[in-house]
Amino acid sequence: MESLNINVFNPVRIHFGNGFINNTGKIAKKYSNLAMIITGKTSMQKSGVLDRLVKILKDEGVKQVIYDKITPNPTIDEIDEAARIAKEKGVGLIIGLGGGSPLDSSKAIAVAAKGNIPVWDYLKTPAAAALPVITIVSTSGTGSEVNRYSVMTNPKTKEKPGFGYECMYPKEAIIDPEIMTSMPPYVTATTGFDVFVHVLEAFTGKMRNAFSSAYCMQAFYLLKDNLIKAYNEPNNPEARGNMALASALAGLAIDLSGVGIIHALEHPVSGNYPNVAHGAGLAALTVESMKYNLEACKRDFMLIAHHLGVKRAGKSDDEYAYALIEKIEEILKSINLNVRLKDLGVEKDRLPKMAKEAFATMGFAAQNNPKDVDEKAALRLLELSY
Ligand SMILES: [Fe+2]
Repeated sequence: MESLNINVFNPVRIHFGNGFINNTGKIAKKYSNLAMIITGKTSMQKSGVLDRLVKILKDEGVKQVIYDKITPNPTIDEIDEAARIAKEKGVGLIIGLGGGSPLDSSKAIAVAAKGNIPVWDYLKTPAAAALPVITIVSTSGTGSEVNRYSVMTNPKTKEKPGFGYECMYPKEAIIDPEIMTSMPPYVTATTGFDVFVHVLEAFTGKMRNAFSSAYCMQAFYLLKDNLIKAYNEPNNPEARGNMALASALAGLAIDLSGVGIIHALEHPVSGNYPNVAHGAGLAALTVESMKYNLEACKRDFMLIAHHLGVKRAGKSDDEYAYALIEKIEEILKSINLNVRLKDLGVEKDRLPKMAKEAFATMGFAAQNNPKDVDEKAALRLLELSY
């Protein structure tokens, strides 16, 4: 039964379509004549998208400051540095360009640039104001373009918490599938699997509701035909477009209903091992976590199996629900993400520390899991996934 106590709010104006990046100048101008572009170190430069954006903004008279030092698991040092520069230069708008890391960072920078405390302190001190943010997403994965969440890593403690306040919603999100064709296969696989885990956890979590479930069902349907296709045919515009849609729907779903134990366990993995891609960490943890949740999610798993095209063919309810887990294993093999924690370089003696961190920094996600989970159960899941 879905919850009947529902609060729905998402103020992000979404622009979806091929070539939409060309309108960024006009959109940016509504907010400021001086924007700060937040991006990573290589991919947007290599693909030429950064240069293109610079020209698009220039043509509309929007000046810009470029901060292109965001790493795959962005640190609080990067965020605080960018925020300091934004303040010094009097930037009036933050534009996040790239995948989940620059987009998450752009929201955190927008908050830190408005306040007077280091970004880490916003984990405990709610933020009431932020600079306006425009997101331009280049991967189809995190859904960060349409929600308020930001994930950051503390390089000293290796903690990787997520946070999100109402002022952190981007004002506008530009989703242009054309700029996603430059995504390499490994990024397509890891970000695409992240989309799946977002909808799996939002659809089955304790905070689910009818609105997030509607987003999830459409996303499952899109994932069915496009996740593997986008991996095998990187230049297929239809597959790219549909994965971009699935990612945005999943981003809206987790904004409403959160994530669960798979994300709670993954953040400590890529927090302790910053070279591990978020989606790869999720891939290692998903199968065992689904087995753990199976009893609590039987009907949901059956429904998802149906949406992913798994044939019922005389299976009992138990068998059909379990068939979803087998289907996920099959999908992971098809996109070369059939990995275990040990394959990702995780050291076994760090598992107890990571089980603790799942609750210290991602407690809200662990609590949202459909089946109750404590530190002992979390450690067991890490061991089984090793
Ligand atoms: Fe995720």
